[in-house]
Amino acid sequence: MNTKEFNTYEDKEQFVQGVFSNIAKHYDLMNTVLSFGQDYFWRKFAVKEMNIGPYQHVLDVACGTCVFTKEALRQEPTLTVEALDFNVEMLDQGRARMERADLLDQVNLVHGDAMALPYADNTFDAAMSGFAMRNVPDIKQVLSEMQRVVKPGGKVVVLELAKPSAFGFKQLYNFYFSYILPIIGKLSKDNSSYAWLPESLRRYPHQSEILEIWKSLGYEQATYHELTGGIVAVHEGVVPETTTNK
Ligand SMILES: C[S@@+](CC[C@H](N)C(=O)[O-])C[C@H]1O[C@@H](n2cnc3c(N)ncnc32)[C@H](O)[C@@H]1O
Repeated sequence: MNTKEFNTYEDKEQFVQGVFSNIAKHYDLMNTVLSFGQDYFWRKFAVKEMNIGPYQHVLDVACGTCVFTKEALRQEPTLTVEALDFNVEMLDQGRARMERADLLDQVNLVHGDAMALPYADNTFDAAMSGFAMRNVPDIKQVLSEMQRVVKPGGKVVVLELAKPSAFGFKQLYNFYFSYILPIIGKLSKDNSSYAWLPESLRRYPHQSEILEIWKSLGYEQATYHELTGGIVAVHEGVVPETTTNK
């Protein structure tokens, strides 16, 4: 499919499904290679920001291969996690990871769409999502859904690629992202799927604009942290007591 234009939400979801079906088996390795191993530290930071407590029930939206889920369970081993994704191949990888780690009794893997979460209001103590917002058709809708299913006072935390702004670093990063990364993708034989990575970031709003979306939804204490010079941003907010989304 031509990625230049998505005419409908369904167009984008269908395209993204294809990308992740293609790369599911190599996703973890490529993630580590392309981030120079930094993704571990980014996830660790993001999970800490959730302030999760013992025996809480947490949602991982667009969990993919469950790397983020596993980090949450590493930090708080008594958690139960609902790990949701709409791509069957990615979920299969996630299930395998949870099985290898002997965590399947604490993780419920669910095939579902982040745009319409299949849960009642106020179901979870907290919710998180990693590297998914560039891929969804409507960021505001997904953040609204996360707010709806998390109890008032609970944290929502989102880790995603961002746009570095420091002069020099920004140019270097853009060069890496636009020229080097697609070559690495080509070597992995998933050229068109890896071409989506820089393209999706190019289309994604700056982290400061994303924060405005959080604020418009009424998240309390909404803020973001830039990590590794702004290569990624962790946005977070607290679900208010009363919200129009419930
Ligand atoms: C880049 S991967 C990130 C996976 C994982 N969260 C991580 O941190 O590594 C993006 C994931 O988002 C999922 N995804 C994209 N759009 C989605 C949607 N609308 N609903 C559910 N999952 C979605 C994809 O299937 C894919 O597994």
